[in-house]
Amino acid sequence: MNTTIDLRSDTLTQPTQAMRAAMMNAPVGDDVFGEDPTVNQLQDTVATLLGKEAALFVSSGVMGNQLAIKLHSQPGDEVICDADCHIFNYESGAGAVLSGLQFQTISSNRGILSASQIEAAIRPGAYWEPQTRVVALENTHNKAGGVVYPLEKIHAIANVVQNHHLAFHLDGARLWNASIATGLPEATYAAPFDTVCVCLSKGLGAPVGSVLVGRKELIEKARRYRKMWGGGMRQVGFLAAAGLYALEHHRERLAEDHRLAKKLAEGLGELGTFDIEPEKTETNIVMFGTRNQPAKEILASLLKEGIKMVAFGSFTIRATTHIDISEGQIDKTLTIMKRLFT
Ligand SMILES: Cc1ncc(COP(=O)(O)O)c(C=O)c1O
Repeated sequence: MNTTIDLRSDTLTQPTQAMRAAMMNAPVGDDVFGEDPTVNQLQDTVATLLGKEAALFVSSGVMGNQLAIKLHSQPGDEVICDADCHIFNYESGAGAVLSGLQFQTISSNRGILSASQIEAAIRPGAYWEPQTRVVALENTHNKAGGVVYPLEKIHAIANVVQNHHLAFHLDGARLWNASIATGLPEATYAAPFDTVCVCLSKGLGAPVGSVLVGRKELIEKARRYRKMWGGGMRQVGFLAAAGLYALEHHRERLAEDHRLAKKLAEGLGELGTFDIEPEKTETNIVMFGTRNQPAKEILASLLKEGIKMVAFGSFTIRATTHIDISEGQIDKTLTIMKRLFT
């Protein structure tokens, strides 16, 4: 039996037996011909949930985000985003390579930008400047520690975006977590955006896949680029079935991940050894500072006890709760950390 407590990421989950059965039994067809009934069902389901006209099943969050910024831009254009966001930091420079884009990054308050920061970053439009074309936000914000974007901030930014005729994209890899944490429907968060990419393979526990949503003509254009980038898949309904299963059975349970993340954050706070403000843990991601002990040393001590977390910088560690983490494992983690670090 695997006794490791793996808190590195919510992408490490194993499909449940019921999910595997749903995958095996899925009706499938050739999705490049648009004939996979399970993919079509997933796309319709996600489009409806997010209140958008159309949806496209894609292999990953990176592909969904990169398709979106491609749709909205021409080479040489500029994307405005926060300095810690996934699109800028963790997508292998794809925006530069695939779309010829440059990024203007802005320092944020835990992943959250203000409308005035965005307004100030928009280029006035001289021909020797890059043209500002896209504003991209992330909800929940990964590197900031699962922070939920406040809806009123999104609306204020949306006003600026509209006034300047820019495109507005949301990296909603963990939008499901934001909705469960606040009770606001995903469609409410998605409404101001032209495109939103949501992931099925994070907290929802599906093995593969993300979905890009937006207006019909945008999604048709995205389908063409997806094919161009080698992402047209054939009987991919087997994977879409996992996503459909996850949406039906694993959305509500995200509340349990949030409860356990809070318990972990509070327990870590009580140790007094780390920099952490437990009240700021809103969803399933716990970030804590290691003061002057290098994160890699702490991770090495934890690993010897069968606990895995991940470094986010030299003195910051991330722990993430997910469907394969139980309350007993969080209790055990806290007991061990108390022994090791106090
Ligand atoms: C906020 C955010 N966006 C996008 C992605 C990319 O998703 P994928 O790994 O499916 O490409 C991730 C992955 O962890 C993420 O955390």
